[in-house]
Amino acid sequence: MIPTPPPRHRLARAPAPVSWQDEPGTPDRPPGPGFWAVTRHADALRVLQDPATYSSLPGPGELPLLRRLLSHQDPPQHTRLRDHAARALTPERVQRFTATARERARTLLDRALDTARATGGVLDLASAVSDPYTSLNLADLLGVPYADRRRMPGWTGPHALEDMTGYARHLIVHCRRYPDDDLTTVLAHNAQLTSAELEMLVPLLLTTGLAPMRDAAAGGLALLAEHPEAYRELREGTAELGPAIEELLRLHPPLLTLRRTAATDTGLSGHHIRRGDRVVVSLPAVHHDDQVFADPGRLDLARTPNPHLALGAGPHLCLGADFARLQLRVLHEEVLRALPELRLAGPVPASGSGVTNGVASLPVRAG
Ligand code: HEM
Repeated sequence: MIPTPPPRHRLARAPAPVSWQDEPGTPDRPPGPGFWAVTRHADALRVLQDPATYSSLPGPGELPLLRRLLSHQDPPQHTRLRDHAARALTPERVQRFTATARERARTLLDRALDTARATGGVLDLASAVSDPYTSLNLADLLGVPYADRRRMPGWTGPHALEDMTGYARHLIVHCRRYPDDDLTTVLAHNAQLTSAELEMLVPLLLTTGLAPMRDAAAGGLALLAEHPEAYRELREGTAELGPAIEELLRLHPPLLTLRRTAATDTGLSGHHIRRGDRVVVSLPAVHHDDQVFADPGRLDLARTPNPHLALGAGPHLCLGADFARLQLRVLHEEVLRALPELRLAGPVPASGSGVTNGVASLPVRAG
């Protein structure tokens, strides 16, 4: 029997499946217009799979820059751009990164373990292994030159997208001049994409691929460190890694909310939603919907089916989902190989901003 997850992963349930939430101001934030919180799986699917009613276009008060982004567009503009990006990010291209990702995970782990054994026996699995692992994998995918990689950890802040737009132009020029087997090279040589579209897609991939991936990797390992029995089952092969990774994503969704704006008047679970209202799907609440997930607070490594929405649903389903799953599988395999036990050496502080669900550090014992 695997114990119930600790309070970090248990979320206050909203009072009703769909409820209006006011947004009073705080010392560092002005009051907001309020929003509909969606906490049931069926309602979440209704919202995410119906872009004609629930638009991804940025609402009033959101950055105008967002309007140009694939993730903030609706069909039909969204469909065309997404098709181009998806054709560049083929399963074959993603699979080609497996060996490099494995080698990277091994090297980072071995180095961190050697250092820890020489200096008191504790390592921070997030800063020493999973953070550099995920950002360097993305750098490979997008062809970020080695000289620029040390700047990547700074590409996840609130202004990342604005900062990234200038860098993306530089990267596109670089990949045109030195073509390689990376995504930016493929996109930069696609004559059907305009410069404006290209200069939107590349920074979008650089930013959306970074923070959730980092938070999924560290968050999943943190959950396993908190569940030693689950770790042992994976190591002994009595539990399979594929379904386990889906369950870790369910209990630790890196993105906490998915936002839409009602494009027309509509109804949802008996509530009248007006055109222009904001509608926010709360993933931790949806992932604890006991009508879909039996005993939802329990880490069940073999949970099947596991229709979690950590990677989204509908037309905006995560474009990097295959790449994300590959990175998580390889990282977990290598941690399981390197560490007979995953023993916490201290508290695991959350680094969440309310939008992403990360851990600030993950101190574990080296052996
Ligand atoms: C475990 C790691 C990841 C998680 C949990 C995640 C989660 C998500 C979610 C929930 C969405 C949908 C957002 C919405 O409906 O509003 C999304 C979209 C997207 N993701 Fe990911 N993501 C991850 C990794 C990645 C990676 C590695 C890449 C790039 C290589 C990436 C690229 C994108 C893009 C481009 C979109 C926008 C797709 C569209 O609007 O059509 N993601 N992601």
